[in-house]
Amino acid sequence: MGKGKIRLAVLFGGRSGEHEISVISARSMLDAVDPARYEIIPIYITSDGRWFYWEGFATGGPPPDDTFTAYVPVTDPTASAFLRSAGGEHELQVDVVFPLLHGPYGEDGTVQGLLEMAGVPYVGSGVLGCSLAMDKAMSKTVMRAEGIPTVDFVALDRETYENDGAKIVERIESAVGYPIFVKPANLGSSIGITKVHKRDDLGPALDDAFKYDSKAICEQGVAGRELECSVLGNLEPEAAEVGELRPTREFYDYEAKYVTEDTELVIPAPITPETRERVRELAVKSFLVHDCRGLARVDFFYVEDKDIVLVNELNTMPGFTPISMYPKLWDAIGLNYSELIGKLVALAFENSEDRKRNQIKYSAAVRI
Ligand SMILES: Nc1ncnc2c1ncn2[C@@H]1O[C@H](COP(=O)(O)OP(=O)(O)O)[C@@H](O)[C@H]1O
Ligand SMILES: [Mg+2]
Repeated sequence: MGKGKIRLAVLFGGRSGEHEISVISARSMLDAVDPARYEIIPIYITSDGRWFYWEGFATGGPPPDDTFTAYVPVTDPTASAFLRSAGGEHELQVDVVFPLLHGPYGEDGTVQGLLEMAGVPYVGSGVLGCSLAMDKAMSKTVMRAEGIPTVDFVALDRETYENDGAKIVERIESAVGYPIFVKPANLGSSIGITKVHKRDDLGPALDDAFKYDSKAICEQGVAGRELECSVLGNLEPEAAEVGELRPTREFYDYEAKYVTEDTELVIPAPITPETRERVRELAVKSFLVHDCRGLARVDFFYVEDKDIVLVNELNTMPGFTPISMYPKLWDAIGLNYSELIGKLVALAFENSEDRKRNQIKYSAAVRI
């Protein structure tokens, strides 16, 4: 980079049930970045998917309405700017993008594909890492193949369920025992998740999960402590401290995450040094197995009486406010929030440089 400020476009909001969470994360980030180093370009994506330059976001200005200029991403990598106003009269120059979006159309590889097309450096994992981590069934299948311990599960599709519900129930019960966690395969923030204790409640739980996704997953419920570990890096990632979540509700559901906020975060988690190391090693291994880049928070179940550590899931764009687990686990070992953002941006440039090494043209002999 030259001597000027880095133009960092933060994408936030988005077409997802986690829209509001993303706005909160973005606001925290804006407050924390060094204004001497970065020029932040706040790009707000509405729930229906329109992109706006939210002028005054940092100073508490009102959310964009129709009087604001809508922007469209330009996928032509040779274009003069990545963002252009819908009418073409304005352009926004961007050096790097921070897709601070959670859930579908943000953390699932879709926006990453767009950024790849445009040739813009961006923070975090690419298409494969994001989509693999987002799909709870695929993620577990790959982890199991690589020897990473996970809960038992069965994946289901909506059409088969609608055509033959009784058979599906049979399949579920032969694979996992109650309590069963029924979840949409591709979502987050505990949306659409039900803890099911008996057969009668399976149907309504599946109906709910299938509202959000055509694929659902039923998992063996485990009675374990919930541990989390933050990972940072590209091909040689490092693990931070291990933290523990102590939900006061039956499980860490949407209410506990964002409404009551009475879940306790214990950092460092009170576990033995051996368990801490096992969690950190599994966190790094899971990151690599998913082909992640930049950052991921890896979530675990720890069944203490049997001394079993299971990976629950990977989040490629974890909650990112200063009081969120991801940054706090770095802070606990001496990397503060604004330094963390600096590292993530540096990793984004490193990643983009590496991609540029890939040869695109192969044969000049074949004419088109
Ligand atoms: N198999 C399971 N056994 C026990 N608790 C679970 C299980 N799956 C999920 N939970 C509980 O539900 C919460 C949300 O599930 P999770 O798979 O992490 O979904 P999300 O992607 O929405 O965060 C977990 O943090 C945990 O409290
Ligand atoms: Mg989770």
